[in-house]
Amino acid sequence: MNDKLDQRIQLVASASFGKIVDDWRRRQSDLPSRSEAIRRLVHLGLQHDEDHPMRMITAIIRPHRYEAVREALMTLGVSGVTATQVQGFGRQRGQTEFYRGAEYKVAEIPKIRVDVAVASSMVESVVDAIQKAAGSGKIGDGKIFVSGLTEVVRIRTGERDQTALD
Ligand SMILES: Nc1ncnc2c1ncn2[C@@H]1O[C@H](COP(=O)(O)OP(=O)(O)OP(=O)(O)O)[C@@H](O)[C@H]1O
Ligand SMILES: [Mg+2]
Repeated sequence: MNDKLDQRIQLVASASFGKIVDDWRRRQSDLPSRSEAIRRLVHLGLQHDEDHPMRMITAIIRPHRYEAVREALMTLGVSGVTATQVQGFGRQRGQTEFYRGAEYKVAEIPKIRVDVAVASSMVESVVDAIQKAAGSGKIGDGKIFVSGLTEVVRIRTGERDQTALD
């Protein structure tokens, strides 16, 4: 960027923030100052945001919590949901867990997998809503995975990405 540097932007930050910036700056070969490093980092962040506008949120939840999760997602206005019956285990592998009052001796326990594709700006609210609706505070409540989503196509129209999600 050859922009004229004529705007002064005040930045108050912690010592650890300064250290993170300095450590990163030292790993680059061409950044003579902290200001230069922060300009570069902001630029990279904006670029990253533009390159990754959507996320796929995959939640593995207790089957009887699905209705509540579905309600919460509809309230947030997501454009679609995929729900799949799955089986799995978490870190208590080998131990038993209760499902519908029955003690399961097997390691894999029935769960529902919920997949929701959203604009990246919605990730926090969707994750929060799923956690609240699916959580009981007991082991086996499940997990939420968030990954970058590169492309979406609506088959009927050929619309892509955000337009295909709306
Ligand atoms: N690392 C993982 N990779 C893929 N799936 C996972 C992973 N961890 C958990 N799951 C899936 O999530 C389901 C629920 O996991 P679970 O809630 O038991 O996770 P956990 O990490 O053991 O947490 P907790 O201590 O609350 O039980 C599992 O049945 C499995 O389908
Ligand atoms: Mg577990």
